[in-house]
Amino acid sequence: MSKKLYIETVGCQMNVLDSELVVGGLRRDGYELTHEAVDADVILFNTCSVREHAEEKIYSALGRLVGHKKSHPDKVIGVIGCMAQKDQELIRRRAPHVDMVVGTGQLGQIPSLVKVVQETRQPQYALSLGRAEAGKKDVEASFESYDPVRDPSMRPTSFQAFVRIQIGCDKFCTYCVVPSTRGPEQSRHPNQIWGEVKQLADEGCKEITLLGQTVNSYEFEHGDGRRTRLSDLIAGMHEVPGIERIKFVTNYPKDMTDDLLDAVRELPKAVKYLHVPVQSGCNEVLKRMKRMYSVEFYREMLQRCREKVPGVAISSDFIVGFCGETEEAFQKTCDLVRESRFKNSFIFKYSKRPGTKADDLYPDDIPEEVKKRRNNDLLAIQNANSLADHKSKVGETVSVLVEGPSKLGMKQTSGPIQLAGRSMTDHIVVFDGNPRLIGQTIDVRVHEASPFTLYGQAVTTDLQKTETWSEPVSYPKDPANDRRLGLPLV
Ligand code: SAH
Ligand code: SF4
Ligand code: F3S
Repeated sequence: MSKKLYIETVGCQMNVLDSELVVGGLRRDGYELTHEAVDADVILFNTCSVREHAEEKIYSALGRLVGHKKSHPDKVIGVIGCMAQKDQELIRRRAPHVDMVVGTGQLGQIPSLVKVVQETRQPQYALSLGRAEAGKKDVEASFESYDPVRDPSMRPTSFQAFVRIQIGCDKFCTYCVVPSTRGPEQSRHPNQIWGEVKQLADEGCKEITLLGQTVNSYEFEHGDGRRTRLSDLIAGMHEVPGIERIKFVTNYPKDMTDDLLDAVRELPKAVKYLHVPVQSGCNEVLKRMKRMYSVEFYREMLQRCREKVPGVAISSDFIVGFCGETEEAFQKTCDLVRESRFKNSFIFKYSKRPGTKADDLYPDDIPEEVKKRRNNDLLAIQNANSLADHKSKVGETVSVLVEGPSKLGMKQTSGPIQLAGRSMTDHIVVFDGNPRLIGQTIDVRVHEASPFTLYGQAVTTDLQKTETWSEPVSYPKDPANDRRLGLPLV
């Protein structure tokens, strides 16, 4: 009988990629995925610490397994990823039935640690050094980028893949745990990245999303005076046959250089979409957040992006209710959202994170109801803008990489179903079509718009003409793998 693995993932795209790779590693050891934790021999939680809510979700899930572990002491329960690196022994104090705690910089050890736990029944820890625990070089070395050979069967879709180009973060925004959970910023060697992209293309991958916490800070120093920037990296993979689209997330406003914008404009495969979080529209708040730029700088940057890359879609992140955010400060954020024409924004209520500078320096003084109200107010402004942005696309024909059935399409079992994909500006587009179009890039004429979605009709293709649509629909229906639309998981 095969051994079974269950994995639950919260957090950002980096975690989704880590989970894919961890599953790939355990599959080589004979594990198969199951979607029920209680059926599994190894139960893993790939965790996120960016907000308290994401952590509490995991502690609750662990709590639900107490009885199960008691009656099945041979099972291995592991907490991996950002919360593992951040909480370390605290996890075993709060959940003593956990067998394995593995940080983001140690994921390659999981297969061997699982065996040790099975043999010894002793808890195992694999953690990287804290940022102040040793010298820079040693801390860097303790965070290993986990980038083993990819296993095509582990990707949610064969035609899309995340590729890590950088680990860690050195920006130290005062509210954020990522510099400690992911360690120092380190860029991967471009040859490794290009090699991985070639392999992915050979396996049928059309769309590559390059990942980094501040992806546009990517820079590899070769040691002989040469350096490779993100723009060079994209230009290099642009030549790889089979690759149709190259995206990159997440951008840091101060590192949005002209060479990168020129590359996005000039290279047809570069997706015309930039995610550049601003976080707040008030200079005093930005200062307390230590974002290192002013609202005026951000506005100019937006203008530069739009001048350099005509038609580019831009999205942002915001934190509302950060320490000391007055009503006036919040109104400045509303003004910025009103005028900035973001395609969409991810809005978060400030969540105080123990161990961060903000928690040391400033009281979390905005009441929860006020945070909630500001969140809703900002969302309403953004939604009105998103609707205007989407409506401006009505009548256009856009090129869509079909990612899978839409939510509605998932429930349809025969005939043309509702499919969903993304345009070259990262807009979500739905239309009725043959499930065989999944993985293809087709033209869709947009005839309707909501704040979140463009609705359209496929411009007839040969494939559609010749098909009879009576055959049963088949596509991966695994909800655990349903990451196709790339929405944030927290
Ligand atoms: N590296 C990316 C994003 C990191 S986390 C960047 O720098 O933009 C994703 C988003 O979570 C952030 O952009 C921020 O808006 C939000 N976030 C981070 N820490 C938070 C906290 N303590 N409370 C609420 N939201 C937070
Ligand atoms: Fe966190 Fe700031 Fe780094 Fe983004 S840039 S990961 S918000 S510290
Ligand atoms: Fe991502 Fe959460 Fe870690 S946002 S980097 S999984 S803290």
